[in-house]
Amino acid sequence: MYNKNLVWIIAAIAATGGLLFGFDTGVISGAIPFLRNDFQLTDSQIENITAFGLIGAVIGALVCGRLTDILGRRRVILGSAFVFVTGALWSGIAPNVTQLLISRLYLGLAIGVSSFATPLYIAEISPTKIRGTLVSMFQLLITVGILAAYISDSLLADNSNPESWRPMFYVGVIPAIILYIGMYFLPETPRWLMSKGREAEALKVLRMTEDPKLVEKSIDNMRKEIQQDKSQMPWTEIFKPWMRNALIIAVGIMFFQQFVGINTVIYYSPDIFLRAGFNGNQAAIWASVSVGVVNVLFTILSLFLIDKIGRRKLFFIGTAGIFASLVLIGACFALSDALGEFTKIVLVASMLIYIAFFAISLGPLAWLIISEIFPLKVRGLGSSIGSLANWGFNTLVAWTFFKMIGGFNYLLGGENIAIASTFWVFAAISLIALLWGYFYIPETKGVSLEKIEEHWRKKGSPRSLSN
Ligand code: BGC
Repeated sequence: MYNKNLVWIIAAIAATGGLLFGFDTGVISGAIPFLRNDFQLTDSQIENITAFGLIGAVIGALVCGRLTDILGRRRVILGSAFVFVTGALWSGIAPNVTQLLISRLYLGLAIGVSSFATPLYIAEISPTKIRGTLVSMFQLLITVGILAAYISDSLLADNSNPESWRPMFYVGVIPAIILYIGMYFLPETPRWLMSKGREAEALKVLRMTEDPKLVEKSIDNMRKEIQQDKSQMPWTEIFKPWMRNALIIAVGIMFFQQFVGINTVIYYSPDIFLRAGFNGNQAAIWASVSVGVVNVLFTILSLFLIDKIGRRKLFFIGTAGIFASLVLIGACFALSDALGEFTKIVLVASMLIYIAFFAISLGPLAWLIISEIFPLKVRGLGSSIGSLANWGFNTLVAWTFFKMIGGFNYLLGGENIAIASTFWVFAAISLIALLWGYFYIPETKGVSLEKIEEHWRKKGSPRSLSN
């Protein structure tokens, strides 16, 4: 029967998918210094291990859209939980680099699937009134997952044991089992059940999650929506001129979210700290735990800010801060001789400032905006394109980071100036982001989704959208 708190419990269990997304992408950062020693890896092999997981995510996000429609949201998430469990075990056991690469690719499939299917499941099972908050929990849990990975990496980092990376990967099994068992008992979403003509079951789920006064109305709305989906626009509508701005915004915001270099900090921060002169793997990992804590705290702050000061303002404040801190991070490396012992302090401080600005802006905004700007009938497709772009750009940055440093080193003849230049490239991209955002970030705060659709139909520019 109806229980107000039940939907929070359902959303929290499903959001474990976000936690795993964060954990399994973040866990690599603490494992890298050990992997490097244990297998005598080169920079480009390190990049490959990171990038293979991301390529898996691209493939997962690509195939899961159709699968979630055919098999249902719940079954796909259950399947991903199975891959999360077995993938974590496999990458921990991996006897050589090749198996490590393949196991990371395999695990990546689940990461890609969860990045798409989890918010979809939560959005469809939530009562309309609190849907926004519940979906935002997804980004929060991504950051919690990253932090959990950093902390567990730190606790397991043992400088006398070169195979410390193995238990780091095994820890991922725990949340994966929780997700599997949890999802086993959770219901399918009413909307998917309705789309398969299983109205009685849909009603049963809705009676548990929705305010009794609203159950009939919700079922009615779903019926209408599904009728409209069937009779109205085909999916190809998304490529028509009136949808062009929405597509540019979705792909563009994901481009800038990734190309300001966020994941070089998330995945490689212990490595970066080591290069800045921190001693020992453990010290470097603990320094990056602080990155994880700041990420979580400022993401919580963003949940309060997003509906108060609006998307555009947050975007500009955040991206300007990202630009300034990237310049500073680069300067730490360029001036490390002059700064001496201070390098470490200034570097940690500027990385924390960078993360804080990211966490209140590009982090949550990108996922939120792609879920808002597409008309209902192509919302799933539109956000899967955004999510695919996210993983594609993410892979590109992770895969080229050390190559860029290598290239600059070759050109400029010095590792520190090479690292500095790489961060300054990210800084230059964040400047372009500011300019792009001026034209393309829409102010969707307080604007109904129907009004957004109407705005696009009237060929309104993103800038001129407001309530
Ligand atoms: C991004 C991830 C990133 C995370 C950091 C997410 O919004 O998509 O790539 O690792 O934020 O908190």
